[in-house]
Amino acid sequence: MTEEKLKALLDSMTLEEKAGQLVQCNAGQFIANTLEITGPDGETLPAEDLCRVMGSVLTFEDAKQAKALQDMHLAADPNKIPLLLMLDVIHGLRTTYPIPLAMGCGFDDGLVAECADMARKESAACGVHVTFNPMVDTARDARWGRILETNSEEPLLNSRMGAALVRATQGNDLSDPGNVACCVKHYAAYGAGEAGRDYNTVDVSERMLRETYLPAYKACLDAGARLIMPAFNALNGVPCVANKRLMNDILRKEWGFEGVVISDYNAVGELVSHGAAADLKDASRLAMEAGCDIDMVMNAYYLHLPELVREGTVSEEMVDAAVMRVLRLKNELGLFENPYHGADEEAEKKIYLCPEHREIARRAAEETAVLLKNEGILPFRKDVKRIALIGPFAEETRLNGFWSRPGAEKYTVTLPEGIRALLPEAELRTEKGCGAEIGDTDDSGIAAAVRAAAEAEVVILALGEPENDSGEGRSRAELTLPGRQTELAKAVIAANPNTAVLLFNGRPLVLTELAETAPALLEMWYPGTEAGNAAARLLWGDANPCGKLSAGLARSVGQYPMPYNRMSTGRPKPEPDNQPFPFTSCYLDMPNLPLYSFGYGLSYTTFAYEKLTLSRKTLGRGETLEVTVRVRNTGDRAGKETVQLYTRDPVGSVVRPVQELKDYQKILLAPGEAKDVVFRLREEQLRFYDMDGKQVCESGEIRVSAGWADHLLLTESFTLQV
Ligand code: BGC
Repeated sequence: MTEEKLKALLDSMTLEEKAGQLVQCNAGQFIANTLEITGPDGETLPAEDLCRVMGSVLTFEDAKQAKALQDMHLAADPNKIPLLLMLDVIHGLRTTYPIPLAMGCGFDDGLVAECADMARKESAACGVHVTFNPMVDTARDARWGRILETNSEEPLLNSRMGAALVRATQGNDLSDPGNVACCVKHYAAYGAGEAGRDYNTVDVSERMLRETYLPAYKACLDAGARLIMPAFNALNGVPCVANKRLMNDILRKEWGFEGVVISDYNAVGELVSHGAAADLKDASRLAMEAGCDIDMVMNAYYLHLPELVREGTVSEEMVDAAVMRVLRLKNELGLFENPYHGADEEAEKKIYLCPEHREIARRAAEETAVLLKNEGILPFRKDVKRIALIGPFAEETRLNGFWSRPGAEKYTVTLPEGIRALLPEAELRTEKGCGAEIGDTDDSGIAAAVRAAAEAEVVILALGEPENDSGEGRSRAELTLPGRQTELAKAVIAANPNTAVLLFNGRPLVLTELAETAPALLEMWYPGTEAGNAAARLLWGDANPCGKLSAGLARSVGQYPMPYNRMSTGRPKPEPDNQPFPFTSCYLDMPNLPLYSFGYGLSYTTFAYEKLTLSRKTLGRGETLEVTVRVRNTGDRAGKETVQLYTRDPVGSVVRPVQELKDYQKILLAPGEAKDVVFRLREEQLRFYDMDGKQVCESGEIRVSAGWADHLLLTESFTLQV
């Protein structure tokens, strides 16, 4: 449809019909047996009334339902404007790949794109028009249960991976029924909630906002994301959905975003609980004035916008502009011509969980696991006869993580299945040992677990955090393994030191006690559908671990927030970090540094960082220099290494971080092989926000390093002359 036709359509609509385009309802309000709703239900209206006018629906089940919803709506809508169907497809639809935090550990934008492409195909067949993805809330506090939804504590990683996901999901032409539009979320700084509690207030400086939190949202919009979702939280005093500075000034004016803004679940209504609005009518006005186009589930816009316009409080032009943005998106998706978009029951049967998708999911699970410790026991030998598989996750099927679709566990390859597929001859004995629930004190199963361990040649101890303990609304104040798992681990390891611990969890846990005793620790996160196959191949060396931590693992929850790119202080703690120094910035009872830092991860081979060279000694405005890092595989098996490039600006008009990631490349090296990895470092990557909030670059020394956070192996310097 042309812009003129869309405009004519808009002009023909009543105020109520316009307001209808600006509300989103749960499919469950119309069709029984839809997916579980993800929050409280809005102020419900009679179903027929809503069905006639509403503009979009969220959370539905499959292509059949998508078509039924569309048919039902189009039959009732006098304007015949198709519905937009939205769903949270976060890490796969039916074929689940690892949680985003794990994907961050892959340090591989290409792998993100490959997984997103598979999710796109499954989503399109299901009838999804818009996915509420990517979530790029930089998160530096593992107490926050939603840290699993982000790629990293690192803004660059979030920016690059978010952008890669957007490109792979949207393709070049949204009217192609195989493509799906992206909604970036949660704008802004949702990950910075005080004390790691979900939905909690956020107070960050302008510099922190611009340097740490905003870049990833901006990168996704630059990659073409058509929608954005303001966050639940108040940012510096004003809830994001009503935050004019965030939405009108930064998003619309400064960044020139012309797409659709959709509130988070019930967030317009929650302006009342925030104490930012007196009632729902006031909330509608505030959100509309801040530039929020669609009200998710509250129906506040439908109930109050017409009245607000009639009484002259909200201008009709403002409402029209919002409706036009929604109509343009529908038009771009080709919905006026093809309201089903890609919904196709036959395609669903063919591609859901197809072998190619399972293969991608398995590879992703292998490439994102992080080997935290290995005292030479892994990989295990394949001629093993007796294996004990112990722990609350030994036979667990729920290894997919938050936002996997209900029922995903039915398709998960469990650990016993994965191990048996790889080693059909070996005897496999399983024991649960204990539970993994918070507060579970039952240790009656530990004795049997110890007996099984003692009788086995090798032991796999599968520990973690139940799937429901991370995700939305699931913050924790303690980050150790729940229940009696640490006690189980100690007893089992004492009975058989040939024990490797596999961890399944959605956040960086505090593993200090476990790491002291466990001979090998492999962090699997929630690996998804192919969990068991990936774990078995990693344990027996068919796959070589290559993940690097996308967020550091604290020694104690008391270290949070604990960003790797922390600022310099006036009293930095001298080396070594293992003892306190009086009157420096340190703890009396533990080191400053995390147990495992950002960017850390082992392999079954070893790598030597041999040389770092710079192509020039000075860098001017707008210029680029090349940094070459020579890395050699010094072990006896092929392996992948993520070469990470860090900079430090030691003197600035404002205090700068002690280390900042600027680039990364993942390479494969054969035994003995060396490669020169070349990075192009641009002057603009060294800019920062000065005291007046201006982006500047200041002349002086810049240090360039390779290694991982807190462990920079090679460093050279150049002079910035601007
Ligand atoms: C979450 C969003 C999600 C939305 C729709 C909310 O509760 O915060 O991330 O996209 O629900 O399901």
